[in-house]
Amino acid sequence: MIRVGVVGYGTIGKRVAAAVGRQSDMVVAGVAKRSPDYAAALARETATPIYASDEDAVAAFESAGIRTEGTVADLVDRADVVVDATPAGVGAENRELYAETGTPAVLQGGEDADVADVSFNARANYEAAAGADSVRVLSCNCTGLARLLAPLDEAYGVRSARATLVRRGGDPGQTDRGPINDILPDPMGESHHAADVREVLPDVDIRTHGVKVPTTVMHLQTVRVRLDDPPANARSVRRTLAAEPRLMFVTGEFGIEGCGDLMDVGRDSERPRTDLWENCVFEESIELAGNECTLFQAIDQESDVVPENIDAIRAVTGVADAGESRHMTDRALGVGSLPTSPAHTAEVAPVDGDA
Ligand SMILES: NC(=O)c1ccc[n+]([C@@H]2O[C@H](COP(=O)([O-])OP(=O)(O)OC[C@H]3O[C@@H](n4cnc5c(N)ncnc54)[C@H](OP(=O)(O)O)[C@@H]3O)[C@@H](O)[C@H]2O)c1
Repeated sequence: MIRVGVVGYGTIGKRVAAAVGRQSDMVVAGVAKRSPDYAAALARETATPIYASDEDAVAAFESAGIRTEGTVADLVDRADVVVDATPAGVGAENRELYAETGTPAVLQGGEDADVADVSFNARANYEAAAGADSVRVLSCNCTGLARLLAPLDEAYGVRSARATLVRRGGDPGQTDRGPINDILPDPMGESHHAADVREVLPDVDIRTHGVKVPTTVMHLQTVRVRLDDPPANARSVRRTLAAEPRLMFVTGEFGIEGCGDLMDVGRDSERPRTDLWENCVFEESIELAGNECTLFQAIDQESDVVPENIDAIRAVTGVADAGESRHMTDRALGVGSLPTSPAHTAEVAPVDGDA
């Protein structure tokens, strides 16, 4: 069993800890955070060992009646691997502690690329992380792009990719980011996402632009990909993408017209925290004109990086290869299981004679 310490128990850390708990080869050694708030109290209810960021925080937890098992340093001592899901910049500060103790670390996309030995996406460059001391899982938008571009590149060669990322203004709890009543080019020029995707797909010519909009509901990406060797029609592209468990086709035919409908899918599915771990690819949007393929995909910013974090843990500990790890992760979480298109229900519906 791999003992995983989760440092930072916010949007991403909570979800990674829950996903670790669902794997047959991992166990949560504990979670660490800074303040003794409702999230700490609720974690305590599930018997998750809680650690405080430092000695001062230990005292604050104690005064709030929440017992801790020590500090981040104690958790790192007791873990085989650390997933650091602290706010951008804090991971870079913690990195020294992980290096000093020789504990492999999985950091997040809010950190700069040089925070870790290698940036990581389980579909694009799993092997590059094998045995690394530290890896950085790409951010939510970049994870979505890498998952899409890797299979297209393998099948047809990606000559160039251009994407506009319509980005949610903040997560549901980030009230300090709003209310925002605007539509903002963010940044005004090219966004950093392209450089991050090139960290895991170095040969892909990609450019990205971002627009921030007043919602907490998902990111929506428009992606335009020029292919070296395009197939005869868009159906072939659909077939290629349909083979990817982490790309989930969603269709207007099933009443899914936008991100609000997708959030309702998450709620109806009774997945933990209504998470949609897959890229949500709007099936009707997939078009091919000459060598240019275009589509829309929506990304659940709070959860799409979760499967990648689980795979990153296996990559740095060297316990499974890419295919095995993705399969284990997907099966344990139920990735690819939602009936969001008639094709999916037809595929899994029992046929005459089935038991
Ligand atoms: N949210 C997203 O949409 C998203 C998507 C993909 C990647 N990411 C990346 O994931 C990382 C985490 O983001 P997030 O949104 O999950 O952040 P978050 O919700 O703000 O959570 C951060 C957590 O870190 C804890 N923390 C802060 N300083 C700490 C310290 N010194 N030691 C231990 N714990 C500490 C906080 O504790 P308290 O709550 O007690 O203060 C909180 O539990 C960032 O790099 C971000 O860019 C975020």
